[in-house]
Amino acid sequence: MKPLIIALALVLAAPLPAHAHPWKPSDLRDLARQHGIRIGSAVDIAALRGEADYRKVLDREFSHVTAENAMKWESIEPDRGAYTWADADALVEHARRNDQRVRGHTLVWHNQLPAWLTSGVEDGTIDAAELRKILRDHITTEVRRYKGKIRAWDVVNEVVNDDGTMRQSIWLTHLGPGYIADAFRWAHRADPHAKLYINDYNLEWNAAKIETTLSIVKDLQAQGVPIHGAGFQGHLGIQYDYPGDWANVMRRFADLGLEIAVTELDVRMELPVTPEKLATQADYYRRALTDCLSVKVCREFTVWGFTDRHSWVPGWFPGQGAACLFDENLAPKPAYQALLGVTKA
Ligand code: XIL
Repeated sequence: MKPLIIALALVLAAPLPAHAHPWKPSDLRDLARQHGIRIGSAVDIAALRGEADYRKVLDREFSHVTAENAMKWESIEPDRGAYTWADADALVEHARRNDQRVRGHTLVWHNQLPAWLTSGVEDGTIDAAELRKILRDHITTEVRRYKGKIRAWDVVNEVVNDDGTMRQSIWLTHLGPGYIADAFRWAHRADPHAKLYINDYNLEWNAAKIETTLSIVKDLQAQGVPIHGAGFQGHLGIQYDYPGDWANVMRRFADLGLEIAVTELDVRMELPVTPEKLATQADYYRRALTDCLSVKVCREFTVWGFTDRHSWVPGWFPGQGAACLFDENLAPKPAYQALLGVTKA
């Protein structure tokens, strides 16, 4: 053999250092494929319809989508019995055409309920028996409509308080704690193949919430209720420490036989933006993906919007923003580059 060929053979045979990528992924879809997961984003339907550049980045980068608002109860049934599916349908159809899986968000929540429902419960015109029937019909109707088209549903969202007690929603108050088991059973009946999740925020680190949520899962499993996943919203901010125990928390849920998803990740900061803050943000995104990849059953890593042009953060956390992977002009931020550099743990 010629020396050059020998040298080449040696280079090719040398094991890659553990931290090196065999090749650098070209985008998040490519990265997700390499890691055997899906990377997703919440989608603003008005932007999806109206902004070609938004669509282009969404479809280039993401292989999973969640409707930011379009599948919530107030969106699909603003008047009793009069369903408005157009936005949710548009997203599901868009996903089908672009090889994106869909997370259904969300069936049972205390927020963004239609006014006819909350006022009816409040003034007593909807009693407990009727409320239970309304919830069953809601779950059955929505899940059945997208049967086979939704990979995973957030069946119950934010049912535990930060102090570990159960949230006093209209559901708990009027139906009792059994509403959670009922919701999972009804959803399962309507689409037996969809993965059914319990989803919450601060579940990344809050011990009281973690313990209560784990016991809800065990309790449901003991009753034979179909529950398949735990979703961590992951609304983080760089003014707080990164939740360093997150991977262990994921593992505790995985140990119960559940799959895991990061369902709504964003990393906000106090404005104005500085290069240092963007670097810290990049590190939080990198660590979140690394934590997910360290747990075998973490299947989905979804961000709550991909561009600072459309993010819920400025409207909900005054003085804060810039929480996403792309800036308002859709230029990738350091956080985006940090994700592309993540290798298997
Ligand atoms: C937010 C949306 O992003 C906003 O547009 C809307 O005004 C309020 O809800 N946890 C959830 C999401 O589960 O549904 C919330 O989405 C953010 C917090």
